[in-house]
Amino acid sequence: MIRPHGGVLINRIVDSQKKKEILDKLNYSVKILLNKRHISDIEMIAQGAFSPLKGFMCKKDYESVLKDMRLSSGIVWSLPITLDVNKEVANNIKEGEFVFLKDEDDFLVAALKVEEKFEYDKKKEAILVYRTDDEKHPGVARLYSQGEVYLGGEIFVLRLTEHKDFANYRFTPKQTREIFKTKNWRTVVGFQTRNPIHRAHEYIIKCALEVVDGVFIHPIVGETKQDDIPAEVRIKCYEVLIENYFPKDRVVLCVNPAYMRYAGPREAIFHAIVRKNYGCTHFIVGRDHAGVGNYYGPYDAQKIFYEFKPEELEITPLFFENTFYCMKCNGMASYKTCPHTDNDRIILSGTKVRKMLQDEEVPPVEFTRPEIANILIDYTKNKLT
Ligand code: ADX
Repeated sequence: MIRPHGGVLINRIVDSQKKKEILDKLNYSVKILLNKRHISDIEMIAQGAFSPLKGFMCKKDYESVLKDMRLSSGIVWSLPITLDVNKEVANNIKEGEFVFLKDEDDFLVAALKVEEKFEYDKKKEAILVYRTDDEKHPGVARLYSQGEVYLGGEIFVLRLTEHKDFANYRFTPKQTREIFKTKNWRTVVGFQTRNPIHRAHEYIIKCALEVVDGVFIHPIVGETKQDDIPAEVRIKCYEVLIENYFPKDRVVLCVNPAYMRYAGPREAIFHAIVRKNYGCTHFIVGRDHAGVGNYYGPYDAQKIFYEFKPEELEITPLFFENTFYCMKCNGMASYKTCPHTDNDRIILSGTKVRKMLQDEEVPPVEFTRPEIANILIDYTKNKLT
């Protein structure tokens, strides 16, 4: 079994004894209201999906991640994991104290031992993380709307916010590692996705499945941008696809509570590390992975892997070129395998499928399986009525 990133699978959910100790130490006069993204990060940290992180980043790690894509310890980490608050809230917090992190329902989720509070440069973070400071970029827009101060320190999770959806598909990294072990999978490929699964996705997963023991389909169900298809619709698509087109004993479907950053190359590294924590030995990186608009070159998210030594990441990326249906090959292919011209090909992309659905056009079978097309058409019709 592949080791978690940094060697140890982190668990920040406290037992009842520790809970009592923390509650005694809490400064109840300061309560920080968490938004959905903070809660998502807390869940990921708590269950070890962000191992080796034990909390939100302090300045040394934050700056090292921005500049070198490493924690200050030298371990590879490509995206800042931070807790932002506005200045008024920050002014009431002293370094060293335990503050109360609550959700919208006023439940105490976790305590943060505030090691450090620090101001940061949003523009600098935008350019280093997203390679742009254009506010039309959804990640940059989110960053610019944040509070001006970051609170860094370890978290102690008392009660994770309950999810009412996707109960059958919620597994922690500890659980998925157990599942893979029970299935005797020595090699597992992780598949990140935020779109309904179309033929290109299916093809690259199946190519990977030819060389590994199992696939871990791990769609993002945290926040995605407004025009992305909602998670509940996407999950139906994955279910139908697995039911009809995959050997079920070689697939594990699990929802990923993380939110999309749309940080392209840096997010690809982050996505791989997270899947390593869930127990994957391999990770699929296709065309424009975690991209948005034209901010990244189609293969930037692959090239960035060469900036690290394989033993630093341990998880092996599997790169795929643009994949499409070729009329002359009479099947799915890519630039690497098909000798024909673009005139013979139906080039697939999530964006293209979305546009067709908006126009109430049924995507052809070369684009998407009919079972999936039906789900997407129903969704589009309901959305419009
Ligand atoms: S992403 O934001 O999660 O990357 P999406 O769900 O569309 O978006 O993609 C999931 C994975 O499939 C990514 O690794 C992406 O690069 C890859 N992918 C999507 N479409 C294609 C395609 N036409 N050819 C090759 N790879 C693709």
